[in-house]
Amino acid sequence: MRDLKLSNVSYEYPGGFLAVEDLSLEIKSGENVAIVGQNGAGKTTTVKLMNGLLRPTRGDVLIGEMNTKDFTTAQVSRIVGYVFQNPDDQIFNATVESEIRFGPKMMKLSPAEEDKRIEEALSLTGMDKFRKENPFNLPLSIRKFVTIAAVIAMGTEVLIFDEPTAGQDLDGNRQLAKILKELHAAGKTIITISHDMEFVAENFEKVIVMANRKIITEGTPKEIFWDFDSLEKAMLKQPHVSRVMCRLGFSEPVISIDEAVEKIYAA
Ligand SMILES: Nc1ncnc2c1ncn2[C@@H]1O[C@H](COP(=O)(O)OP(=O)(O)OP(=O)(O)O)[C@@H](O)[C@H]1O
Ligand SMILES: [Mg+2]
Repeated sequence: MRDLKLSNVSYEYPGGFLAVEDLSLEIKSGENVAIVGQNGAGKTTTVKLMNGLLRPTRGDVLIGEMNTKDFTTAQVSRIVGYVFQNPDDQIFNATVESEIRFGPKMMKLSPAEEDKRIEEALSLTGMDKFRKENPFNLPLSIRKFVTIAAVIAMGTEVLIFDEPTAGQDLDGNRQLAKILKELHAAGKTIITISHDMEFVAENFEKVIVMANRKIITEGTPKEIFWDFDSLEKAMLKQPHVSRVMCRLGFSEPVISIDEAVEKIYAA
């Protein structure tokens, strides 16, 4: 299994807009990482560089020994799967099942293996009940799960989810948490962009913070959500429970309700 490494990566869109600048980071195989930051910080650009949809204007993106510059997008995307921020940029098939089958079909697996991939992805995402539907007749929150299932069925070792929590209710967030947990337990590397700080605090072991096209810091959720300078720079809120604990005067980082209850009883 391969680690992912960005070395001094910058990317300028063809029109000349510099979207990310001098990014260096390493994500180890099997890590479960969130990327956070305000709108326009460069998060989507960064992950598109990781799966070969974009090539750096400067610096290198390495997946293990592979430099994305030397491979096609199709080759890179067999190792690094990317679920688009907007599902309508990804979906093009007339049924949920054919959308999910498309990737595995291109991989020329045995029919049994192809079917197994489809069934597992449908079941893990809860999409089995929609398999015969036209994705475009389904609400956005469900279309998002369709695109997640399609990428899971590819069986890549790295999976990137671009804002899966956007537009999801509590049930959707729970389903997402369950999917991420299972993929992580199966040894996959997970990279998730999210604006939902509660979700980030609860579901990731590492958080990368971006602001103004750069990575400003990274750390565990506890470190990040108690780093007031970085939060201010990135215009991020602490999770609610951390804000309450701060207001109550607790100086030790607390990011979960269970921990907060424990600390309050002990005080
Ligand atoms: N195709 C493009 N051409 C030119 N500029 C672009 C293009 N795509 C994005 N940008 C610009 O690059 C910057 C970074 O965009 P990016 O989509 O990476 O941000 P983001 O952090 O994902 O934001 P959001 O939270 O809104 O999804 C933004 O200012 C955006 O307007
Ligand atoms: Mg984005």
